[in-house]
Amino acid sequence: MRIDVVSIFPDYLAPLSLSLPGRAQESGLLEVHVHDLRDWTHDRHRTVDDTPYGGGAGMVMKPEPWGEALEAVTGRGAGTTNDATDGADPAGPVVVVPTPSGEPFSQAAAAELAQRTHLVFACGRYEGIDQRVVDDARTRWEVREVSIGDYVLNGGEVAALVMIEAVVRLLPGFMGNPESLAEESHGVEGLLEYPVYTKPPEWRGLEVPEVLFSGHHARIARWRRDQALRRTAQRRPDLVARLDPDRLDGRDREV
Ligand code: ADE
Repeated sequence: MRIDVVSIFPDYLAPLSLSLPGRAQESGLLEVHVHDLRDWTHDRHRTVDDTPYGGGAGMVMKPEPWGEALEAVTGRGAGTTNDATDGADPAGPVVVVPTPSGEPFSQAAAAELAQRTHLVFACGRYEGIDQRVVDDARTRWEVREVSIGDYVLNGGEVAALVMIEAVVRLLPGFMGNPESLAEESHGVEGLLEYPVYTKPPEWRGLEVPEVLFSGHHARIARWRRDQALRRTAQRRPDLVARLDPDRLDGRDREV
């Protein structure tokens, strides 16, 4: 997979060379390129923003540098269109625009993005990017405006880091033990993960639940599922409502 990130604060993306994405890059699974949007300005002040039409507070990011930047990093210039064979090509780039007004990011969205070979993150600042940038980009590439939660950040950079980490750990061959992907919160079962414990068996007067020492795999699995169901019901009733009834057994319903 190739990931391009365009931002006016490329230094914000420095963590991409650390830890998880860093490891993926070393192993050759991932190639990350971070770009400064101002490289596509042509005035002395390298201007990227201007006042909003219609008035109001703050500044809006100008369309021209964004248009050129997206063309450069996707390798597709003006005049190309997103026709039926083209835009639907899973190998084509996906332009991801982090914004609090986007569709909610989720594990399912991360899994979809992990199937693609080229992601381009367009990180806006201020009051956002001139809407024509997204409207124009949609005619050439698949574009997803995505929010990582119902709160407002200063820009899309941190949201891009969040999404990139969620996607990169799903790349085939990246995780040491792919089974752990299925069991974790928001995995295939749609439940939050059960609580986990390690040594020592007692710490500050708190004991590890007895069943985990039993060596009885079926009982341990049942206990973990009960805990996951209880946690999900308490913390995320919205997720319980979305559980697949075919995946629930009689005991699940008692919990
Ligand atoms: N930019 C600012 N706030 C954001 C959010 N919640 N999600 C994605 N991008 C953002």
